[in-house]
Amino acid sequence: MADSGNSDAFVAFERVQKSYDGETLVVKDLNLSMPKGEFLTMLGPSGSGKTTCLMMLAGFETATHGDILLDGVSINNIPPHKRGIGMVFQNYALFPHMTIAENLSFPLEVRKMGKSEREEKVKRALDMVEMGAFGGRRPAQLSGGQQQRVALARALVFEPELVLMDEPLGALDKQLREKMQFEITHLAHELGITTVYVTHDQTEALTMSDRVAVFNDGRIQQLAPPDLLYEKPENSFVAQFIGENNTLEGVVTEMKGDTCVVRLDDGEELDATPINVTSVGERTRVSIRPERVEVDKNRLQEGAHTLKAEVLEFIYMGDIFRTRLRVAGNDEFIIKTRNAPDQVRLEPGAQIEIGWLPEDCRALDAS
Ligand SMILES: Nc1ncnc2c1ncn2[C@@H]1O[C@H](COP(=O)(O)OP(=O)(O)O)[C@@H](O)[C@H]1O
Ligand SMILES: [Mg+2]
Repeated sequence: MADSGNSDAFVAFERVQKSYDGETLVVKDLNLSMPKGEFLTMLGPSGSGKTTCLMMLAGFETATHGDILLDGVSINNIPPHKRGIGMVFQNYALFPHMTIAENLSFPLEVRKMGKSEREEKVKRALDMVEMGAFGGRRPAQLSGGQQQRVALARALVFEPELVLMDEPLGALDKQLREKMQFEITHLAHELGITTVYVTHDQTEALTMSDRVAVFNDGRIQQLAPPDLLYEKPENSFVAQFIGENNTLEGVVTEMKGDTCVVRLDDGEELDATPINVTSVGERTRVSIRPERVEVDKNRLQEGAHTLKAEVLEFIYMGDIFRTRLRVAGNDEFIIKTRNAPDQVRLEPGAQIEIGWLPEDCRALDAS
């Protein structure tokens, strides 16, 4: 039954399902395996089952079906505190009546560690997150960012092999969030910790992770490194959820091996790479990134189909130009061009032609 390829995975979900009410499955047939030291992010909209997966891995929820393995051993019957897992949540969950040092010492006391060893480890963990000078304060005397650093130190202080983080930066402002994103990945890689990170923020997922599992409707829609996820989405959900994306709907009229021709609903034709479509006559939604649209015909392949477009709006953004077009009835078609010395600024009202390399235009499911 179990995929034998998972036997050397550090964390594995095998055919895991979860229902809270005995009727609806909020996690449906989840399969995932992670090597030691990987930083993996579960990304998806609210309600897609991310926290439920994390809670099952931590042992606070049990799977309705399937197995969760840690280092090759099923953890279904191992209680949470014996799993050697560190956790960080959005709302810090520091003990308010304890000092910062006492907060960090607590998980070590639970593990019956002696006083001098505890003090040494607490100091090291606080230094690691640059909070060494704050051991004597209480949580209320720290800023949000400082509290989150302490929460991180507390999750790491007992040197867990696996750390789980559920939207840990959600309460912080943008600047601090970006700084902490960098610090967390840096620390995790430096210490060789295996991390499962949960967020609904796609930028956060792309910038922090070795691999991202995109969740929707209780299933992993795609599991891939950030660049593959952005450049080679395997279905319409992933293409829409990750990054900015243009879509046009039509019917496949020709399959030519690696490429296909799609007739859009307004009659125009374009070239695409068939991803989720297999036969002529199938409805499809093609997906193309704004920076991959070509406005210079000379840069297209010979014989490439081009589309007519009307310029609706030109937005100067400094490093790039963002231009909104009407293409095949879609008024929200965005293109991005680099602000280079020879780059034209498209004028609203202008009629132009656009095209792309077939490999940059993906014919996906129309659902
Ligand atoms: N303790 C619970 N009891 C019943 N339903 C729950 C519970 N926790 C989560 N759910 C439901 O399970 C689904 C997935 O939730 P969750 O795992 O929290 O998603 P996410 O973290 O991706 O937002 C949601 O429909 C949610 O309402
Ligand atoms: Mg959640």
